[in-house]
Amino acid sequence: MQSAAKQEASADNIRTIPARWYHDAGIYRAECEKLFHAEWMLFCHEALLPSPGSYVAYTLAGRPLLVLRGKDGELKAFHNVCRHRASQVLKEGQSKTEVLRCMYHGWVYDTNGQLCKAPGFGGDEKSLCERTSLFPVHVRSVEGLVFICMAEKAPSFEKSIGDLGKALQGAGIADFKFFDTAAHPMKCNWKTYIENYMEGYHIPILHPELNRDVDMATYKVVPGERIARHETGLKPGREKEAQNTGLWIWLWPNVALNIYKNGMNLEIVNPTGPETAELRYCYLFRDVSKEMEAENRQAIDLSFTVTQQDIDICEIVQKNLSAGVYETGELSPRHENGVVYFHDLVRAIHS
Ligand code: FES
Ligand SMILES: [Fe+2]
Repeated sequence: MQSAAKQEASADNIRTIPARWYHDAGIYRAECEKLFHAEWMLFCHEALLPSPGSYVAYTLAGRPLLVLRGKDGELKAFHNVCRHRASQVLKEGQSKTEVLRCMYHGWVYDTNGQLCKAPGFGGDEKSLCERTSLFPVHVRSVEGLVFICMAEKAPSFEKSIGDLGKALQGAGIADFKFFDTAAHPMKCNWKTYIENYMEGYHIPILHPELNRDVDMATYKVVPGERIARHETGLKPGREKEAQNTGLWIWLWPNVALNIYKNGMNLEIVNPTGPETAELRYCYLFRDVSKEMEAENRQAIDLSFTVTQQDIDICEIVQKNLSAGVYETGELSPRHENGVVYFHDLVRAIHS
C-alpha cells in the first residue's frame, strides 16, 4: 500500500476530495450548517401540492419541515416544530389538512403559521396566540419545482439555481402530473451518491440495461453554473426503444432531474448522517390516467433497476471510504469533469 504522501506525489490528474470528508462528523455538521441549512434546497414538485391545504412534510438534512398550500393558494413553508414542547406538528408524509393541529397536545396553527387555539391550556389563550407562530422558512417555486431556504436571511435565489432555468427551457416539466413517490435509505454519504451521478464512466460496467442504448463514444457531462447536464448519442438502431435516456440534469448540491419524453423522476439525495442518506424519488408523468398506469409503472421499474445498481455500488464505495486505506484517487480527464466540478463546490464549503 502507498502512503498518503506517496499517493499525493504521484498525482498527474485532478484528485478526489479526501476520504475523511465522506464519514467525518465535523465535516457533515459543517455541510449541514453552511450548505443544507443555509442555501436554497429543492424540496418537492408542486404537483404534490395541488390545492389549498395540501402539504408535504419530511426531514431534510436533519430538520423536520413542512410546505403547504395556504387558503390563499400561495405556498408556505415552516419548520415542523411546535412552539409548545417541540413535537412535530404534522405527521411526515404527503396529505391534505384544514388546519395545522399539533399531534401532541392539539395546538392549532393557521396556514400562515400563527397559533390560533391552544385547547385547555388555561390562562390568557388570546395573548398566547398573538405571540406564538411557527418558525417560518422561505419558499419559492420555479418550473413547478419547490425550493425552501431555512436561513433567516435567504441568499439570492437566482444565483442558487444558476443555469437550471436555462437548462429546463422548453422541457415543460411544470405540466407533469404527480404519479408516485418512493424513499430509499442508503448506507452512504450524500456526496458518494451524487458523484456517482456526475459521471457516465461506470455505465458500461455497472448498467447493462443502460449500456444497450448509450453510445459511450459521444457521452459527455457538460457543467454549467451550479448544474451539469449529461449528453449522449444513442447506439445505432436503439433510437426507438431507448427508454432510459433523455435530459439528465444535476443541480448543486443534491438534486437530479431525469426528464424523459413522457415524464420525469426527481431525485433528492437527503443527507441523514455522515455515512447515511435517503434517496427521495418523485415520479411524474404527462398522462397519469388509468390507461397509462401499467406503462408508467414499467418506466419506474426500469429506472429503478439502474438506481439500485447505483445504490449498491455507492454502499460498497462508502465502506472503503470509511475503512481508512484509501485517501484520494485520480479523476478521469475524459469522463469525470462533472465530479471535478462537484468537488470544487464541496471544497469551497470547507475552505
Ligand atoms: S408540543 Fe405541540 S401542542 Fe404540545
Ligand atoms: Fe449510474
